[in-house]
Amino acid sequence: MKIGVLGSGKGSNFDAICDAAREGRIDAQITVVLSDVADSLILEKARSAGIAARYIAPGAFKTRLETQREEEYVRVLREHGVELVALAGFMRVIKEPLLRAYAGRIVNIHPSLLPAFKGLRAWEQALQFGVKFAGCTVHFVDEGVDTGPIIAQAVVPVRDDDTPETLHARIQAEEHRIYPEAIGMIVRNTYAVAGRKVVRRP
Ligand code: GRF
Repeated sequence: MKIGVLGSGKGSNFDAICDAAREGRIDAQITVVLSDVADSLILEKARSAGIAARYIAPGAFKTRLETQREEEYVRVLREHGVELVALAGFMRVIKEPLLRAYAGRIVNIHPSLLPAFKGLRAWEQALQFGVKFAGCTVHFVDEGVDTGPIIAQAVVPVRDDDTPETLHARIQAEEHRIYPEAIGMIVRNTYAVAGRKVVRRP
């Protein structure tokens, strides 16, 4: 399966997916990496891994892409034969052009146990709320923000002396484990969707 990765930041989840594909843990190949941040580390990493990497300017908005720009993302994904889109720290809300082009084939990793703590800096929200367990979620992307059907989750403990940084690092270690696993499930088609519920099948 050909995967396109969209990210805005440091690309540690890109690394995890890339390693899983390279080591044959998932029968997939990342064919292109796209970013809304020209000097993002994720683009640099993709280039040094010999993967096509493109900056596509987001346009004037802060939290989403301009429609024409989003259409350009779709065009480039198609140009690279992408069948599954993996958001990995992509800081824009996905709208109609991409949702329509890749309906049911866009996944995201979020650093909380959804539906708790949607949105930005979820680990910090969890810490401020005082929860004893935090975690991460891989989910399908729909028109909402962090609302799509849940594919996989992992839990981590919150320690009394945690800072936002230490908690985020613990969550990220789990992200790097469950994101490739969830993608593997999609690649092997070993899941079924019943309403909102994604279930594993043998
Ligand atoms: C991760 O914490 C992910 O859950 C969130 O953005 C961060 C991306 O990190 N969506 P990286 O760029 O993959 O290192």
